[in-house]
Amino acid sequence: MSRLQAKLLPHQMQFVQSNARYPALIAGYGAGKTEALVMRVLRFISGIPNAVIGVYEPTVDLIKRILYPRFEEIFGGAGLIYTLNKTDGILEVFMPPPIGKCQIIFRSMDNYSRIIGYETHHAILDEIDTLPKDKAFEVWVRVLARNRKGSHTQSASMPKKNTVGVTTTPEGFNFTYELWGKTHKDNPDYELIRGRTADNWHLPSDYIDALRRTYPPNLIDAYLNGEWVNLVGNTVYSSFDRYKNHTQLTLDDWPAHAPLHIGADFNVVRMAAVTVLKGEDGHYYVVDEMHKLRDTPALIETINARYPYATRRATIYPDASGRSRKTVDASKSDIRLLREAHFRVNAPKKNPPVKDRVISVNTLFCDATGDRRLFVNTDRCPALTEALERQVWDENGNPVKDGTEDILDALGYVMTRIAGLNRPVTAVTRMRMV
Ligand SMILES: Nc1ncnc2c1ncn2[C@@H]1O[C@H](COP(=O)(O)OP(=O)(O)OP(=O)(O)O)[C@@H](O)[C@H]1O
Ligand SMILES: [Mg+2]
Repeated sequence: MSRLQAKLLPHQMQFVQSNARYPALIAGYGAGKTEALVMRVLRFISGIPNAVIGVYEPTVDLIKRILYPRFEEIFGGAGLIYTLNKTDGILEVFMPPPIGKCQIIFRSMDNYSRIIGYETHHAILDEIDTLPKDKAFEVWVRVLARNRKGSHTQSASMPKKNTVGVTTTPEGFNFTYELWGKTHKDNPDYELIRGRTADNWHLPSDYIDALRRTYPPNLIDAYLNGEWVNLVGNTVYSSFDRYKNHTQLTLDDWPAHAPLHIGADFNVVRMAAVTVLKGEDGHYYVVDEMHKLRDTPALIETINARYPYATRRATIYPDASGRSRKTVDASKSDIRLLREAHFRVNAPKKNPPVKDRVISVNTLFCDATGDRRLFVNTDRCPALTEALERQVWDENGNPVKDGTEDILDALGYVMTRIAGLNRPVTAVTRMRMV
């Protein structure tokens, strides 16, 4: 145990050794949170006879892909004898006397009906902030209810109470902010430990640079330093600057057959579309907008009228969700109309979460290294420009809609599909359940 602890980073050590009732390691991507979780479990099973520890991830998939291999690697490396029953989500460890057999119970937070029928001494939840706030509270209450097993340890170094720890990267002003940052800010039961990505020198040297290229500047602090960032009332497209992201380029600056990427959002009487071209420099240019169109036939007519060889060069990137208020599957018929008009249509089964779309577009406008890869002809696209500058976040973490900014969705659909950003990941593929 001491050999393993010697390797811990300071914030990991603080979390592993914390005897607070509710310790939270709130830290950047790749800061070593999950590693600390496993080490805290190891600490408990080294000191509590027949310890039962609950370990939670947002999804079953994360338990299988991240936790099982990590536990096996670290337990195997420590020479522990264990059996892992993946079907039941139970790992049994056979420790030398007087500890004896310990159990680690793995459960997912998205299926919280299964947080039932067992008792734990201690629990740890990984990445709880990726859950919507109300769901996170629901899980929290259930985990607390399970975490009531009496401890018979004589060891002075073990916590005297049942503890529930949290290891997570913060997502805006979400669950962890509510408990550790606000309601229980000065309550010693709630210990807040911060860790920065940069503190983990085990990461590949280009990891942070790669992250900076996939996030806008206003989010990177949260994601690298483990800070809560309040977005309420701030503009959604904070990276957009009408001067720095302006382009003089128009359609005429491209060859006659250059591919046109047209993002389109369907809505009653408010169809909107934007036309994007890729430059030789690899950057993207929004050269044209269409808005306040009545319906899909009107959109088709406009595209054909504006662009020579339109059907041969244009791909349409419509809303995939069927959110149109016309009829239940109106958007399907809209997509069919586009196809019947001989356009290529790029429509996945599902739209990505709104927040992911916004992050991608913001990062293209300006990433955390200061690079701008998406430009708008603000003279030709006044409606888009105005919408980009005006839309703000509401207190639930959603962009405020006043029924006029469908054009922003249109931009999001096309940009995420032609230039979607691949984030670097260490262990966890980020789950954003928004
Ligand atoms: N104390 C340590 N000693 C050696 N390697 C470590 C240590 N802590 C973390 N690492 C390594 O650093 C990488 C990131 O650690 P880990 O996955 O625990 O971070 P994380 O904060 O959970 O990341 P994510 O945000 O992706 O969930 C892993 O490859 C892990 O093995
Ligand atoms: Mg992790």
